[in-house]
Amino acid sequence: MPRPTIWFLRSALIHLALGFTFGALLLWNKGVPLHPLLWRLLPAHMEFLLLGWIVQLAMGVAYWILPRFYTQRGDVRPVWLAFVLLNGGVWLAGMGGTLAAPAWVILAGRLCEAGAAAAFAVHAWPRVKPMAPEASHRD
Ligand code: HEM
Repeated sequence: MPRPTIWFLRSALIHLALGFTFGALLLWNKGVPLHPLLWRLLPAHMEFLLLGWIVQLAMGVAYWILPRFYTQRGDVRPVWLAFVLLNGGVWLAGMGGTLAAPAWVILAGRLCEAGAAAAFAVHAWPRVKPMAPEASHRD
C-alpha cells in the first residue's frame, strides 16, 4: 500500500472512532440526559464522519487504485497538500462548531476542505484514463 494511502486510511479510521464515540454520546444523551452541553458534539460528529471518515477513505483508496503511468502515480505533492488541508479543515470546521468558535474559523475550515478537494483533483485528473495494459494486476 502506498505511503499516502496509509496516512489517509489511518487518519480516516481515527475520525471514524471519534465520530462514532460522539454519536454514541449524542444518542445516550437523547435517551438519558447526561448534560445539555453534549449536544455541542453534533457539528464535530457530522464533520468527522462525513469528511474525516468517508471523504478521506475515498481519497486514500483512490490514490492507491486509480490507473498509473506504468508504475508511477504521478506528482504526489498535491496529495500531501490535500491530506493536510482536509484534516486541518475537518478539525477547524468540526471542533470550531463544537467549541462555538467565531464564524471565520468554520469558514476557514470549509475553505481548507474545498482546497483539499481541488488539490486532490489536480493529482487525480490525469490518472482518470484507460489502464496501461502491463500495469494491471500489479501491487
Ligand atoms: C458514518 C456514520 C454516520 C454519519 C455519516 C452520521 C451523520 C450524522 C448527521 C449528518 C447528523 C445530523 C442529522 C440532522 O441534523 O438531521 C447526525 C445526527 C446524529 N447522529 Fe450520526 N452519523 C453516523 C453515525 C452515527 C452513529 C454510529 C451514532 C450513534 C452511535 C450516531 C448518532 C447520532 C445522533 C444521536 C444524532 C442526533 C440526531 C438528532 O438530531 O436528534 N450517528 N449524524
